[in-house]
Amino acid sequence: MQPVILAIESSCDETSASVIQAGKVLNNVIASQTVHQKYGGVVPELASRAHQQQIQHVVNEALTSAGIRAGQLNAIAFTRGPGLLGSLLVGVSFAKGMALALQLPLIEVNHMEAHVLAHFIDDPKPDFPFLCLTVSGGHTQLVMVRDHLHMEVIGETRDDAIGEAFDKAAKMMEFPYPGGPLIDKYAQQGNPKAFTFPQTSIPGLDFSFSGIKTAFLYFLRDHKKNDPHFVELYRNDICASLQAHLVGMVMDKLKQAVTHTGINRVAIAGGVAANSGLRKTLQVHARQSGWRVFIPGFQFCTDNAAMIAIAAHYKYLAKRFASLDVAPLANLSVGE
Ligand code: KG4
Ligand code: ZN
Repeated sequence: MQPVILAIESSCDETSASVIQAGKVLNNVIASQTVHQKYGGVVPELASRAHQQQIQHVVNEALTSAGIRAGQLNAIAFTRGPGLLGSLLVGVSFAKGMALALQLPLIEVNHMEAHVLAHFIDDPKPDFPFLCLTVSGGHTQLVMVRDHLHMEVIGETRDDAIGEAFDKAAKMMEFPYPGGPLIDKYAQQGNPKAFTFPQTSIPGLDFSFSGIKTAFLYFLRDHKKNDPHFVELYRNDICASLQAHLVGMVMDKLKQAVTHTGINRVAIAGGVAANSGLRKTLQVHARQSGWRVFIPGFQFCTDNAAMIAIAAHYKYLAKRFASLDVAPLANLSVGE
C-alpha cells in the first residue's frame, strides 16, 4: 500500500507541515519565526508560543494545497526529537490530537535521521551504504547510513555545532541572527586566504569547534585594538577566511571517514549544508578523488517537514508506528 501521510516539524524555530503520497512529497509549508532576531538567538519560550499560534494554519495550508482531505490520510507523523522541549510538545500534541480524532496511526521521526533522509525526496538518491555529514545549528555528525531505517553516528562534535560556530562568529561581528547565511553571503566576495586561524582540530572522527570560536574572538579583539574599524573594512575577507577554515575542518574529517570506511558515497545534510563554500569544496574534491557526492536542494537543508514526511514514509512501509503515549525527547540520538 502506498500511504498518504501528514508530517509535522516543530523542533526549533520553523513550524512546518508536509503531505507525502506514495513516497512523493506534495508540498513543504514552512512558517519561519522572526521573533528571535532581536534577541540574537532562539528564545525557547517564544518559539513554543509561535508554534502554538502557527501550527493549525500551517497544517491546514499543507492539506489544502495538496488537495488532500483529512479523511484520505493514512497516518500522522511528527518530530519526536532532538530539539527544544516546548517546541516539540506543540507538534507532538497536535499530531496526537489529529491521530486520535481521525483514528489514524502515529509515526514518530528522529529529526537528525530525517535530515539524512532528505536525500530521498528527489533524485539522485544515494545507494547504501553511504556517509552523511549532518551539519546544523545544534549538531555536527558523521553518520554511516546502512539503509533508510538503520544508521549510526561514527563521529560527532564534543562541544559546539558548526552552525553555532558560524552564528557565534557572526554575533561577534555584530551581524543579526542567524549569522551563518550572512557569513556565506559576504564570503562570496572575499579572499579566503586573507587571514589564517590556528588548527584546533582533535584526532579521530569527532569534531570540536570551541577552539576556533575562542581563536576568532581573540583574532577580532587583537585586530580591533589596532583598528577599531577592522570588521567594517575587512568584512568580506574575514568571512571568506573563517568560512574556508570551518569548511576545511569538516572536509578533513570527511576524508578521514572515507579512508576509514572505504565508502566514497558522501552526502551532506542540515542547515549548514546550504553553505556555498562547503557545497563547492565538496564538489571540487569529489571530481579530484572520484567520490560520489549528494547535496540536497536548499529548501531541504534547513529545518522542514518534507524530510519528516519522507522518513515517515519508510517507517510506514516497515509498519513502525508509535503508541499514543509517546513523549517528545529533547536529546533523542540517531538510532534510538
Ligand atoms: O538544520 P537547521 O535549519 O536547524 C537546526 O536543526 O539546527 O540549521 C540551522 C543552522 C544555523 O546555525 C544557520 O546559521 C546555519 O544552519 N546555516 C548556514 C547557512 N544557512 C543556514 N550556515 C552557513 N552558511 C549558510 N548558507
Ligand atoms: Zn535541523
